[in-house]
Amino acid sequence: MQNGAIFYASKYGSTEQYAHWIADELDVPVYDLRRDHAEPSDYDFALIAVPVIYHKLMGHKWIRRHTGDLLTRPTFLITVSGAGAGKKLDGWIATSLPPDLIAHVEHFALRGRQTPRKLTYFDWIMLKIGGLMNPDKQAAREEMHGFDFMDKAQIAPLVEPIRHLQNAHPAHAENP
Ligand SMILES: Cc1cc2nc3c(=O)[nH]c(=O)nc-3n(C[C@H](O)[C@H](O)[C@H](O)COP(=O)(O)O)c2cc1C
Repeated sequence: MQNGAIFYASKYGSTEQYAHWIADELDVPVYDLRRDHAEPSDYDFALIAVPVIYHKLMGHKWIRRHTGDLLTRPTFLITVSGAGAGKKLDGWIATSLPPDLIAHVEHFALRGRQTPRKLTYFDWIMLKIGGLMNPDKQAAREEMHGFDFMDKAQIAPLVEPIRHLQNAHPAHAENP
């Protein structure tokens, strides 16, 4: 049995919700990477769940600081964003994380939630301006008026491969 943990960051709660859904399904501990002093080096594998905020992965400094430990164990990157999987998201990941870590992780893209009335005034105005300037009509509407793609079913594709890993023997315990 391999032991893993989920390390998350969240500004408005949707990534935290996904992190807890995943933790419950897999029966792994869940840590807020800004608040808890947990370390990926204490686990056989790591799940990192972070939202995209202003074209960057939240918690990217923490992730960069732990690159060495993440490169030496299976790592799953779970992004939560307005945009779905695709070139835009890949570009934001590329400007947030080192290339060797991007090549190492298995990435799952989940779509989150943005509720205009819950935003700070700064975020609300920034997203209004962003929406007005966004040539992509659908994305602009979502930026300005919000969206809710929260759905527990989105975690299904990542739960299965991780369960498989949990049931595998740790590398150091394999037969010589
Ligand atoms: C201030 C702000 C900036 C955002 N920037 C982006 C972005 O650059 N690209 C994107 O796809 N989604 C963006 N989003 C959407 C968030 O990724 C989405 O709302 C996510 O669910 C937020 O996660 P959280 O609730 O855990 O903070 C932004 C949302 C907010 C509130």
